[in-house]
Amino acid sequence: HAQAQIPKPNQLQDARVNTGGHVETTDTGVEDNSANSLRAGPRGYNLLEDTTVRKKIFHFDHERAPERVVHALGHGAYGTFESYGDWSNLTSACWLGAGTKSDVFTRFSVVVASNGGSESGRDTHGFATKIYSQCGNHDLVGNHVPSFFINDGADFPDLIHAVKFEADKGFPTGGSAHTTAYDFFTQHTEGTFQLMNVLSDLGIPRDVRHISGNGVHTFRFINAAGKSTLFKWYWKPMLGHRALVYDEATKIAGKNNNFQRVDLYNNIAAGIYPEWEFLVQLFPDDGTYMWNGIDLVDPTIVIPFEMNPPMTLGKMTLNKNPTNFFAEPESISFAPSNVVKGISFVPDPLLQWRLMSYDDTASHRHNSPNGYLLPVNKAIAPINNNYRDGYMQPLLFEGASTSSPDNVGGVIGASLNNTANGTLPYTGIPPEIVDGAIGRYPNLHDSFGQARTFWATLDKYAQQHTVDAYRFELGHVSDAGVQQRYIDNILNKVDNCLARRVAMGIGASLPAIDSGPSNKTNTTAIVPSFYPLAP
Ligand code: HEM
Repeated sequence: HAQAQIPKPNQLQDARVNTGGHVETTDTGVEDNSANSLRAGPRGYNLLEDTTVRKKIFHFDHERAPERVVHALGHGAYGTFESYGDWSNLTSACWLGAGTKSDVFTRFSVVVASNGGSESGRDTHGFATKIYSQCGNHDLVGNHVPSFFINDGADFPDLIHAVKFEADKGFPTGGSAHTTAYDFFTQHTEGTFQLMNVLSDLGIPRDVRHISGNGVHTFRFINAAGKSTLFKWYWKPMLGHRALVYDEATKIAGKNNNFQRVDLYNNIAAGIYPEWEFLVQLFPDDGTYMWNGIDLVDPTIVIPFEMNPPMTLGKMTLNKNPTNFFAEPESISFAPSNVVKGISFVPDPLLQWRLMSYDDTASHRHNSPNGYLLPVNKAIAPINNNYRDGYMQPLLFEGASTSSPDNVGGVIGASLNNTANGTLPYTGIPPEIVDGAIGRYPNLHDSFGQARTFWATLDKYAQQHTVDAYRFELGHVSDAGVQQRYIDNILNKVDNCLARRVAMGIGASLPAIDSGPSNKTNTTAIVPSFYPLAP
């Protein structure tokens, strides 16, 4: 039953202005010329009744929306996703149906830098895709490396405060690396592998056409029969991976902050469309969230493709630049909670907090709960609900309906928990029995095994680049205690030779050769060859 929908086959068409050849109007549609203000004589005072220029300046005063609290620096493009086949054995997600093509928008970003910063600086890069599917919008909100710094969302504000500018000074102590960050990394040993990824050549990709996207978390496919299969997702660049060396990155950053968006824009404008294949690793859902002894709900851990070869489900092509930077890449809002029927979540304590955080921050950033109704965010699937009102509500809610369901001609509620077959309508998944004692639990994790294997698999030149990056970063940490603790308590537990090379470069004390039992245990042998380095 149509409740609030204005049907729009292409939700962007209705939003177009300045299509060329039109006389200027105000926002109220009145023709006027705002280039010269209304004055009492050619050299006289301005008049308050110059409502046209008043509106223009007033609008300008309000032009800025708050930047994203993380991933503020970004850009993106439209494209299509094509499913290679019928994956209904795995999921009822309609965008993975046989031969299904969906429109998409992908936004690439940099986590730490604020808007206006450099896209070439060393950082984790975001890779977020909105799939405008016939069964609703599905957001794939990932990063360019497959693990993460922490494994509990409770630590996310602390992580970000530690890596953004320092609260008192507004700049990092030491000029370019943060004492607060390395203090955080010393205490959060679970992030050792992720930090090494970022300090390797992977942390300075040449451009976004040559990066992967990684879902990081494990997710859940559900097919029409209610069967659940766990999966991790990846975007694999058809162009392969390319990194800069640090000297190039700093030079490019100095000369052109926007090197990466220029590269993407110009390639798309020239008809050279970048493509990524959509890969998934599958894991049986036996209720333990473990696979071959590896924890599937710890996002600091990756599962090598050698151990679990991925399946290729489809391909994304980016082929259309945005029309307006503010209205599209800036105003788009992604959320890992935006899933369609057939895809759901697992009890990963990082993911669970993300499911709340993005919807919340979207309301803040758009200063309204109606951000998902902006053209770039709006679903092409019908929207029918009673979430009426709020700042800038663009929908026309018909009739007096207030509740779901009601008897006054409004929305018809979807069926409740279907006791007949025991599945939930939202995900189609059979109810999960959850049984545990309430508590604040520390997460179990393998802090150093993956980092040790990653280090060991780097070529000699890539090892040297990584040592140089640790020296640069730690060398700029102003607190000698933090420096030494990172070397002794983290690097030396990964590899004594690495720790000594870094220590030597920054004048720190050389760590002992045997730093304890963790130097000898390698609980997870990871060979991360699925993202080869190619500077
Ligand atoms: C952006 C929160 C972890 C990927 C954001 C934003 C917030 C946020 C508030 C800004 C969104 C906006 O203003 O539209 C969090 C929290 C996390 C977390 C609370 C942990 C609990 C992660 C992880 C990944 C990730 C693990 C990667 C798998 C992204 C990306 C964006 C983003 C790609 C940019 C989206 C865009 O282009 O608009 N995050 N995040 N985040 N986050 Fe996270």
